Amino acid sequence: MAEQITREDALRREGYRHACHIMLYGDSSAKLFGKIPIKHIVLMQMRFDGLLGFPGGLVNPSEETLEAGLSRELHEEVGVAVPVGVDNHVSSCLSPSCPRLITHFYVKKMTESELKEMERAAVATATDHGLEVLGMFRVPLYFLKNGGGLPYFLSHSFISNSRAQLLSALQRCGLLSQGELEKAVRQAEQMRL
Ligand code: GTP
Ligand code: MN
Ligand code: MN
Ligand code: MN
Ligand code: MN
Ligand code: MN
Repeated sequence: MAEQITREDALRREGYRHACHIMLYGDSSAKLFGKIPIKHIVLMQMRFDGLLGFPGGLVNPSEETLEAGLSRELHEEVGVAVPVGVDNHVSSCLSPSCPRLITHFYVKKMTESELKEMERAAVATATDHGLEVLGMFRVPLYFLKNGGGLPYFLSHSFISNSRAQLLSALQRCGLLSQGELEKAVRQAEQMRL
């Protein structure tokens, strides 16, 4: 687990770069194959380097607030400058993979129609589409036979600590239970053997 610090402590430190990323999510009543509830929409992206991660990016706190910088990155990467506030902040960590980088993480709940609108904008107007961002997608939160769904999803490769950010946010936002998360992690682990 990456070392956590407060948002205030993070901003007091000198000689660090800051990156802000966000989990945009919402409820849905849609059903896969007409019978398996997808329950929630959770957006992530395929990055230019082939790793999965959240939308967001580097922010310069001497020029913009962390939250305004995150909105700017969202405009570039998903085509909508989604407003983000301090109340959306959930954690700040010393990056486990990148020295002198602090990664700030946010969550924001949106409506299904706002999320659908954003998925369209991510293709139609986002300047980074097809370049730094190869695509936005939804995370499968359900369980199918033989590890299909979330367990298979978790066996992909993720940037930095974004996999841990996903797992803790799914629990924090009440999208999956502790038991379901443990089951998904256990099944994903078995796939690697
Ligand atoms: P440029 O526009 O090219 O500067 O990229 P960016 O500003 O969009 O930066 P990027 O999103 O790649 O994030 C900067 C750094 O933060 C990356 O090099 C990773 O180390 C880290 N990072 C990227 N995505 C995530 C994420 O979802 N979670 C976490 N914890 N770190 C991430
Ligand atoms: Mn079909
Ligand atoms: Mn970016
Ligand atoms: Mn980015
Ligand atoms: Mn950037
Ligand atoms: Mn960029």
